Amino acid sequence: KIIILDFGSQYTQLIARRVRELNTYCEIVPFNKFPEDRDGIKGVILSGSPFSVNDPNALYTDLSGIRGKYPVLGVCYGAQFLAHTSGGKVESADSREYGRAQLKWHDEDDTLFKGVRNNSTVWMSHGDTITSVPDSFKLVASTDEVRVAGFKIEGEKTWGVQFHPEVYHSEDGKILLNNFVKDVCGCAQDWTPASFIESTVAMLKEKIGNDKVVLALSGGVDSTVAAVLLNKAIGRNLVCIFVDNGLLRKNEFENVLKNYEHMGLNVLGIDAKDKFYKALAGVTEPEKKRKIIGKGFIEVFDEEARKLKDIKWLAQGTIYPDVIESLSITGMVIKSHHNVGGLPQKMNLKLVEPLRLLFKDEVRRVGRELKITEDLIGRHPFPGPGLGVRILGDITPEKVRVLQEADHIFIQGLIDTGLYKEVWQAGAILLPVQSVGVMGDERTYENAVALRAVLSTDGMTADWAKLPYDFLGKVSNDIINKVRGVNRVVYDISSKPPATIEWE
Ligand code: XMP
Repeated sequence: KIIILDFGSQYTQLIARRVRELNTYCEIVPFNKFPEDRDGIKGVILSGSPFSVNDPNALYTDLSGIRGKYPVLGVCYGAQFLAHTSGGKVESADSREYGRAQLKWHDEDDTLFKGVRNNSTVWMSHGDTITSVPDSFKLVASTDEVRVAGFKIEGEKTWGVQFHPEVYHSEDGKILLNNFVKDVCGCAQDWTPASFIESTVAMLKEKIGNDKVVLALSGGVDSTVAAVLLNKAIGRNLVCIFVDNGLLRKNEFENVLKNYEHMGLNVLGIDAKDKFYKALAGVTEPEKKRKIIGKGFIEVFDEEARKLKDIKWLAQGTIYPDVIESLSITGMVIKSHHNVGGLPQKMNLKLVEPLRLLFKDEVRRVGRELKITEDLIGRHPFPGPGLGVRILGDITPEKVRVLQEADHIFIQGLIDTGLYKEVWQAGAILLPVQSVGVMGDERTYENAVALRAVLSTDGMTADWAKLPYDFLGKVSNDIINKVRGVNRVVYDISSKPPATIEWE
C-alpha cells in the first residue's frame, strides 16, 4: 500500500482517489503520524498544504525514517518541504504560476516522467517556488515560470513535483502517478472490487464469528452495500432494521423492503410514522426538526434491537470521507461522523464498519460486483431527515403526502427521460408560501413547490442542473394538474456555495 502524509491540502483526498483508481490500496494519515505498523508499505506521498514552508506555523515532520527507506513523492508543498529541509531555497514567487501551465522540458528517461508528453498541461496552485536546490537534486522537469517543476534526489527513490498530478487538469498526471505506484514502488495493482470483497468477507467472518449484528438500513447505497457484504459473511446472524419515519419518498418503504427481501437480507421493517408525526407536530425550527428526527430514530432502533437479544455488534455504512482525519489551518480537527450517532455507546455494542476505507465511487463498484441492482446502486443521496427538511415550516401528514406526490412526478420524469443518471441529486421542496392561481373558472390560493436538481461530486459544492425547459415545463404541468394543493412550481437556480443543496 501507499501512505499519503496529509499536510492539509484540499487535494489530499484526490491523491488517494487517483491511487485507488490505479488499483492500489492507499491510506491518508496526518503529516506527523506515519504508521508504526510498517507492514506492506511500498511508498509514501507527501501532499500539498495551505502553508508556505517558510511560515513559522508550517507543518513539519521528520522524514529521516522515511526517505531512503521508502520511495517518496512530494507534491507541491511536499516537494517544497523536501527542498527546504535539504538545504534548498523556497521563496514566494514574483510571478505566481497559478492554474494551467505547460511542461517546457522534462527528462524522458526519468522513471517518474516516462510516457509524459512534451508540453503537456500541468496544474499549479502555490504562491511559492523552489529557487535553489542542493547538488544531490537532479532537475527532471521545468515550465516557463517554474524552473524546478520536478526533481529527483540522487541516491534515493525520492521525487518532488511542484504541480498537482492528482488533479484532472494535469493531463498526464495519471501516467506520472502510475509510474510512481507501479515502477518506482512496485505495487502489484491488484486492489479491485472483487479482491476487496474477498478480503473483507474473510475479515468479517474472523472478526464477528458467531456473534449477532444489527444494522440500520436507509435504502441508500452505503448501508445497502454494507448489509450485503455482512450478509455474505455471516448470513442470518445479520439483522437489518429499516425504519419508516413517515418522511420517506412515495412508496419507498414498501419498494425498498421488497428489494431487500429479494436480495435475501434478514430485514425488519418498522412502521413508526405516527411516532414521528406526533413528535414533530407544530415544530418549525429546522435544527429542532433534525434533532427530533435523529432522536426518534435512535429510540426506535434501540427498542427494536433490544427485542432481538444477544446482539453484540452494530454495523454502519460509514465511508472513507467520513472518517478521514482532516486538518484545519489551526491544527488538527477530526471530522468524525456517525450515521447513527451515539448508538454504540448507548447500546453497549461494538462497532463494525466494513466500508470505512472506501470512497463513494468504490462503494458503487463493490455494489455492482455484489450484483446489487442498479436501482439501488445508482440512487441519489437522500438526507437522513428525509422529507422533513424539504417541508419548510411545520410537518403534517397531509403536507408529506403532497410533497411525496410532487417529488414522485419529478423523480419519475427524470428516470423516464434518462436524466436521473445525469444529476447528482434531485428532489422537490414544499414551500410555506401560498399564491393565487386560476384553474378553470376558479381562483385558487394554494402552495408552491420548488424543484431542485444539482450536479456535484461530493455534495460539498454543487451547481444547479441545467435541465431542459421542455422537461421542466412538463413536470410543472403534471404537478399542478395532478397534485391537489399545489398551483405553482418554481425551479431553484442557486449554486452551493452560497446556497446549500437542501433548503433547511
Ligand atoms: P447541504 O444542504 O448541506 O447538503 O448542501 C449536502 C448534502 O448532505 C445531505 N444532507 C444531509 N444528510 N443528514 C443527512 O444524512 C442531514 O441532516 C443532512 N442535511 C443535508 C444533502 O441531501 C446533500 O446531499
